[in-house]
Amino acid sequence: MKKILSIAIVLIATSTLTAQIQNPLLIPPTLAGANYNLIVDYDSLEVFPGVYTQTAGVNGAILGPTLIINKGDVVTMNVENRLTDTTTMHWHGVHLPSAMDGGPHSKIYPNTTWSPTWTAMDRASTMWYHPHLHHKTYKHVMMGVSGLIINRDTTETGLTLPRTYGIDDVPLILQTKVMDANYQIDSDMMNSAMDTLFLANATRNAYFDAPAQVVRFRILNGSPMRVYNLGLSNGNDFWVIGSDGGLLSAPVQMNRLLMAPGERYEILVDLSGMQGQNISILNYGTGIPSSTYGAGSMMGGGAIQNYNNNPLNGADFTMLSLNVVAQTSNPITTIPATLVSINPYSQTNIDENRQFNFTSTGGQSGPFLINGNTFNLSQVNHVIPLNNKEIWSFTNQTPIAHPFHIHDVQFNILEINGAAPPLHMQGWKDILLIPGHQGSAKFITKFEDFADANVPFMYHCHMLEHEDEGMMGQFTVVDDVSTEVETLETEIFSIYPNPANDKIQVKLKHSKSQEIQIIDVKGELMFKGILTEMISTIDVSKLSNGVYFIKVESVTTKFIKQ
Ligand code: C2O
Ligand code: CU
Repeated sequence: MKKILSIAIVLIATSTLTAQIQNPLLIPPTLAGANYNLIVDYDSLEVFPGVYTQTAGVNGAILGPTLIINKGDVVTMNVENRLTDTTTMHWHGVHLPSAMDGGPHSKIYPNTTWSPTWTAMDRASTMWYHPHLHHKTYKHVMMGVSGLIINRDTTETGLTLPRTYGIDDVPLILQTKVMDANYQIDSDMMNSAMDTLFLANATRNAYFDAPAQVVRFRILNGSPMRVYNLGLSNGNDFWVIGSDGGLLSAPVQMNRLLMAPGERYEILVDLSGMQGQNISILNYGTGIPSSTYGAGSMMGGGAIQNYNNNPLNGADFTMLSLNVVAQTSNPITTIPATLVSINPYSQTNIDENRQFNFTSTGGQSGPFLINGNTFNLSQVNHVIPLNNKEIWSFTNQTPIAHPFHIHDVQFNILEINGAAPPLHMQGWKDILLIPGHQGSAKFITKFEDFADANVPFMYHCHMLEHEDEGMMGQFTVVDDVSTEVETLETEIFSIYPNPANDKIQVKLKHSKSQEIQIIDVKGELMFKGILTEMISTIDVSKLSNGVYFIKVESVTTKFIKQ
């Protein structure tokens, strides 16, 4: 008993002592060019003075380098996994083929390297990368694995914007960690412990020497669960210039900015004439809407365990303190009037409307279901024809807000709770925070460029506990073959038509009495029979639309039911 008491006193003494000490904001190094070598490994970091915290990072103790990618370049990532766990690496927001996307299917086993390659097609924007292995995403991100991507294009470089990395163009990754009594990261979400430690770029009590001019922050909410409400300590406004997928049409002057897990916003802060002053970027937690993780009031059943014991919830706290220092040479001192032209998708000629409903099996702590389903790695929830323009509508019947994220595409928000989105959400987005308690939202998007019937893209809640517990689904994008019906030929049989709707005709080329199997993309046997004639007809009307494999003897071919 005595011993426990003295340890407690030491802990308290250490935390009051260190509370005042500020640490320079870590600026992740950059990587650019055609080839990016990324080594994911364990390490340790002195987060608290004199104590080493076990971490994981990319090419370093925690986080990873900022990848600078120019539109049009062909890039190759060599991701080497030195963890003892299998992992994946997902390029969040990037438009690329599903096989390169790094979702839960693209496993990187320990001591192996995965080398996806693609042509950069994204607009100038701030994106990020993080592991995405099912059931392990929370753990690997909590341990420290994530990094920023800066996409550049010639439209953005033609604008008068701050662009000197780490000087007036500052990466800012907002994250919280769950810590145990020994200052170690508790990466097991099943412990239901709270994220009580806030870090800016993995730095505790961070400060940054910001020049007395217009400074751009590329902000990522990389937290597993927490929503932030940004504002400046001096009450000044700032300007939002970009959202997840690119710049806005014009800067939007704001005083507070709500950011959900996974979201990025680029902002401009005007520090002109403020040399010598100190201002802070705060989380105004008191202003976070109730039933949103981070709010003081959660309102609703099935409360999150330990939520009310977390001092960060509903609290106003400093995220980054800015010491305003001398101007750089050639400072940017004005906020541009306009930025880029945005052509949002028009709501004419919609190919498909899809409806998603969130429910909970346990109030605010979940697990949560999408359309009654929990994630199944071997079930494709939607098969989407290439070039489909779709409206996705959401209703949230759970008592907590969820940030919905979709891979492959950027979207335009049409509505949140029946109203048009605020101006700073009228650009390109890949995350949409859907309010709790019967909240609703809609977006419009188009599935272009990449079709692959075998490797699905994901959609999910970006609160990583929710995602790992199964609040996720998957879709494939398939080439729209409806115009050309063809015969599938193999050495021993042929099938007509393909795609098929009701019936297929199977013609054997050599001998009859062969076994036929129809297998779905998850490997499940949907039909089995013996072909007793050289020409047989099989009813496929009961199969749901999608891709199937037909196997006769040892020969397998792919066919599409539509
Ligand atoms: Cu940032 Cu599917 O993830
Ligand atoms: Cu969620």
